[in-house]
Amino acid sequence: MTATEPIAPAHEEVLAGAAPYTSRILSTYDTWVLGVVCPMVWGCPRDEMLRQYDRSVGARHLDLGPGTGWFLERAAFPTLTPELALVDLNEGVLQKAGGRVAHLRPRLFRRDVLAPLDLGEKVRFDSVAMNMLIHCLPGTMAHKATVFDHVTPYVEPGGRIFGSTVLAEGVRHGRLAPKALKNLNDAKGPMNNLDDSLADLEAEIAGRFEDFRIAVRGSMALFDITVR
Ligand SMILES: C[S@@+](CC[C@H](N)C(=O)[O-])C[C@H]1O[C@@H](n2cnc3c(N)ncnc32)[C@H](O)[C@@H]1O
Repeated sequence: MTATEPIAPAHEEVLAGAAPYTSRILSTYDTWVLGVVCPMVWGCPRDEMLRQYDRSVGARHLDLGPGTGWFLERAAFPTLTPELALVDLNEGVLQKAGGRVAHLRPRLFRRDVLAPLDLGEKVRFDSVAMNMLIHCLPGTMAHKATVFDHVTPYVEPGGRIFGSTVLAEGVRHGRLAPKALKNLNDAKGPMNNLDDSLADLEAEIAGRFEDFRIAVRGSMALFDITVR
């Protein structure tokens, strides 16, 4: 596998958003987070997110915050040999997800998505995924949305940016969601989304792109953007 490219220093609060993904958490993530928490707590089964991948992944794909690589391993790429690049702040995540798709020889970049990505001047992608990433990032939605500014220069015209995020407001929470939101936002929790609303997410996307769609499924918003 390609060696991970080095990281620029990130703020403590930003590092905290990626730190919970230890090897122990990653070993139970697929079963527990994707298999139980997503459908039962957030009301959005992982297959719904996988369908979003299947609709949008291109032959040159960039995955921001790939986690365990569960989606990358299953996504229906339009070619048997897609070019993959994975970006994460957590080295353990890059190794786990990168290992899962090692046969595709992904490029691994240890980067903070809230800073310019510095992936190479001529590098371009047909698709960019940011699945369940925004709710980990600190700050206001305006600050979180700078991730769109950091990836757009790398997207080919006509390319797709897609993903999902758990929101606190403007979505349809089930019975278990309010308490889970509170617990997962505590000092050591992986989430940072108590102020995240559908209206703010939509305003940030609409301020940058003309062609987009946002769908709400339970506590989550799923967005699909075409870059013009
Ligand atoms: C909730 S997991 C989502 C994993 C995967 N996309 C999925 O849907 O299963 C969030 C991922 O974002 C990464 N992450 C969190 N903050 C980050 C940041 N500022 N820059 C880059 N990656 C970050 C975490 O390390 C983790 O891999």
